[in-house]
Amino acid sequence: MNQKRPGFGTRIGFELAAAGSAVGLGNLWGFPYKTSANGGAAYLFVYLACILLVGAVAMLAEFTLGRRSRANAVSAYKAVSPNLGWLGLLVVVIPALIMCYYLVLGGYTVKYALGSFVGNAGKYEAFAGNVGDVILHTAVFALPAALIVIAGVRNGIEKAAKLLLPTMLLILIVISCVSLLLGEGVQEGLAFYLKPDFSKLTGSGILSAMGQAFFSLSLGCGAMIAYGSYSGQTVDLARSTVVVCLLDGLLTFLSGLAIFPALFHYAAISGASLSSLGMGGAGLMFITLPMVFEGLGLAGQIIGLLFFTMTAIAALTSIISILEVVTQFIIQRHKVARTRAVGVVALVCLALSVPVGISLGMDVNGSKVFCLFGRNLLELLDGVTNTLLMPLGALGACLAVGWRLPKAERFSGFVGAMVRIVTPVLIVLILVFGAVDMAFPATAAGRAFSADGFGMLMTAAGVAALTAIAYFLWLKNRDTGSNQDEEAANLKREEAFRAGLQRGWQRPE
Ligand code: PHE
Repeated sequence: MNQKRPGFGTRIGFELAAAGSAVGLGNLWGFPYKTSANGGAAYLFVYLACILLVGAVAMLAEFTLGRRSRANAVSAYKAVSPNLGWLGLLVVVIPALIMCYYLVLGGYTVKYALGSFVGNAGKYEAFAGNVGDVILHTAVFALPAALIVIAGVRNGIEKAAKLLLPTMLLILIVISCVSLLLGEGVQEGLAFYLKPDFSKLTGSGILSAMGQAFFSLSLGCGAMIAYGSYSGQTVDLARSTVVVCLLDGLLTFLSGLAIFPALFHYAAISGASLSSLGMGGAGLMFITLPMVFEGLGLAGQIIGLLFFTMTAIAALTSIISILEVVTQFIIQRHKVARTRAVGVVALVCLALSVPVGISLGMDVNGSKVFCLFGRNLLELLDGVTNTLLMPLGALGACLAVGWRLPKAERFSGFVGAMVRIVTPVLIVLILVFGAVDMAFPATAAGRAFSADGFGMLMTAAGVAALTAIAYFLWLKNRDTGSNQDEEAANLKREEAFRAGLQRGWQRPE
C-alpha cells in the first residue's frame, strides 16, 4: 500500500483514533460533575442509552458522509448536494471555536500533571490568574498535538492513538481499582454512582445527558467525517461505530468509578460535607480532586499524577482530531502542504486561546470585566458550540444521510428509521430545549427571560448565518478538494525527491 496516501493503515487504527477523539475532557470532567449535579446513577443510565441509541446513529451518519466522499467536510456535504456545503463549512468552523478553549483546558491539565508533587490543592485561582503561566502551559499542550498532526494521518494520528488510548485505559483501570480499595466511604460512593434513583432525574437532566453524549462522541463538528474519510474502503462502518461508542462508554463509566468512591472516601475521612467539596460544580477537576488526592498522602499524589497525565493524554487525542478537521479542509481547499496548514491553524487558534485564558482567569478571580453575556469566553464558546452548534451539525449529518443520499446508498430497516426520523427528532428536542433553557433559564421564581442567554443564542445564530453567507459567496462554486489532493501532492514531492537523488547520482563529483 502506498505509504504516502493519507489514510489509516488499519481498521483498529481508525477505531482507536476515533475513540481517542471521543474520549476527552467530556468523559473525565464533564460527565462526573454533571452526573453528580443530576442525582448520580440515573444520569449514567440515560447517558449510556443516549450514546448507544442516538449518538451511535449520528456517528454512523458522519462516518458515512466522510467515507463516501473521501474528502474534507465541505466537499463531503457538497457531494450530497451543493447547497448543503454550508453545513460542511459550519462543521469546520465549530472545531476551530472549540479549539480556542480546549487548548486552554489542555494547558491546565498539563500544569496539574506537572504540579502533582508540588501540590495543586488550593492553587486554582492563582494559576488561572497567572496569564503567562497559562499561555506557557497551553503552548506546551498544543505543541505535541501540532507535531502529531503534521506527521500525518497514518504516521501521526494513527500511531499516537494506538499508543495513547490503551495507555489511558490502563491508567484509568489502575486508578479505579485503587479508588475502590480505599475503604471508608467507598460503599456510599458506589451506591451514589450505580444505584439509580430515577425520581431525581429531571427533564433538563435527560437533555443534559443527551447533549453530553453528543459532545463526548465528538459529533456535529466534522471530526467523525474527517476520520471516516480516511477509513479503509472495506471497513464495516457500523461495526466500527459500535466499537467506538462502546470504548467511549467504557471509559466514561470507568471515570465515574475512579472518581466517586475516592470523593466519598475523602469526605468520610476529612469530615467535609459533600456539598462543601463542590462535587456538583465544574470545579470538580481543578479544585476538588486535587484536594482529594493530597488528602490521601503520597499514594494520593501518585494517583493525582496518573490522573492528570491521563487527562492530558485524553485531551491531546481529542484536540488532534479537532485540529485535523480544520487542517484537512485547508490542505484540500488551498492545496498547501500539511506542515504549513497545521502551522497556520495551530498558531491562529493558539493566539485566540490567549483571550480565552485571560477571560477565564479573571472570572475565576472575581472580575467579570472580560466577560460577554455574563459568561467568560470559555463558557461562552462552550455554550455556543456544545448546546447549539454541535447538535445542529449532527442533525445536518443525519438528515443529509437519511434523506438526501441516492436511494441505493441509504440505510434501510431499523438503522434507516433511526437516521431518518428518531435521531433527528431527538436532536431537535435537544436544540429547542437547549435554546429555551438559555434564553429563559430556570430561577427560584420560575423561568425568566435572560438577555445574556438570548445574546448567546444570537451569537450561535450569527456564526451559522455568517458561515452560510461565506459558503455561498466563496465556496459553493469553487473546488474544495478531496483527500486525493494531498495524495497527489505527496506523490509529486516524492517523485521530485527521487529525481533529485538520481540527478545527484548521475553527476559524480
Ligand atoms: N469528545 C471530546 C471530549 O469528550 C471533545 C471533542 C469535541 C473532541 C469535538 C473533538 C471534537 O472531550
